[in-house]
Amino acid sequence: MSAHPPQAQTGPSAGAGESLQGAPTANRLPLTIPALLERKRSGQPLVMVTCYDYPSARIVQEANVDLALVGDSAAMTVLGYDSTVPVTVEELLMLVKAVRRGLRTPLLLADLPFGSYEASDQLAVLTAQRFVKEGGADAVKLEGGGPIADRARAIAHTGIPVVGHVGLTPQTATALGGFKAQGRTADQALAVVEDAIALQQAGCCCIVFEAVPAAVTALARDQLEVPVIGIGAGPADGQVLVWHDILGLYEWGSPRFVKRYAQLRAPMLEAVQRYAAEVRAGEFPSSDYTYSIDPEQLEQLSVRLRREG
Ligand code: KIV
Repeated sequence: MSAHPPQAQTGPSAGAGESLQGAPTANRLPLTIPALLERKRSGQPLVMVTCYDYPSARIVQEANVDLALVGDSAAMTVLGYDSTVPVTVEELLMLVKAVRRGLRTPLLLADLPFGSYEASDQLAVLTAQRFVKEGGADAVKLEGGGPIADRARAIAHTGIPVVGHVGLTPQTATALGGFKAQGRTADQALAVVEDAIALQQAGCCCIVFEAVPAAVTALARDQLEVPVIGIGAGPADGQVLVWHDILGLYEWGSPRFVKRYAQLRAPMLEAVQRYAAEVRAGEFPSSDYTYSIDPEQLEQLSVRLRREG
């Protein structure tokens, strides 16, 4: 890629007929919240993927994905923390802004990080507004049920679309007994479904179900009018997977619900190793990769340098 790529058309200012640098998106319209609800009614599955930077946003745009989530999973996948808990609003905001620059038609969702919304409705609204106003997000996502439904309601009342997240909620995984499937007893499953219904009543426009038995998701899906987006939750109104998992960017294993659609770590490693080897061997840069200067100009330069000592 050139160091100075041409500017992409991004964000709400890009018209429906404009495309991102030749990507075949010209006639696609940005997905709206009413269209999201209509997709559940029509039975056409929604595709969501996490996305954390400008180059991946451009791929998400071109691949005709419906929703891009700047998940707080960025804490682990991009920033190297060992859980999602430490990531800050400022850290996620920077990623949301980068993704916004590369997206036009998918809905851009931003996760509200741990500690940035739970304490009060006012805190939740102020944080959500930052993600929309500064980051350019179309909607925000928060984790959990119970009192979190009140935070969702407060945000939705300000006109910001909100997405819920139930089942395995990584921000509070310690309280749930670790990163493990939820809703595997009737009591637990009922709690998951009740949380989802409360989030819908609070105004959430869709709800992520994570690591929940497929049969529980199926029952919940029938009860809910808003789309259920599954991750490790079986068939739903849509699916979400983490970018690094889909592409095989890490050497370590993924949860059982992850399907890897590529194994990109090995070719990336090999490319960097070949580059390093060629630099060390003096093979790169060869003349193909260097600028030339007119020999006369070069001679003049040598004379002047000699003269100036
Ligand atoms: O943070 C994240 O990536 C998520 C998805 C796994 C749904 O919340």
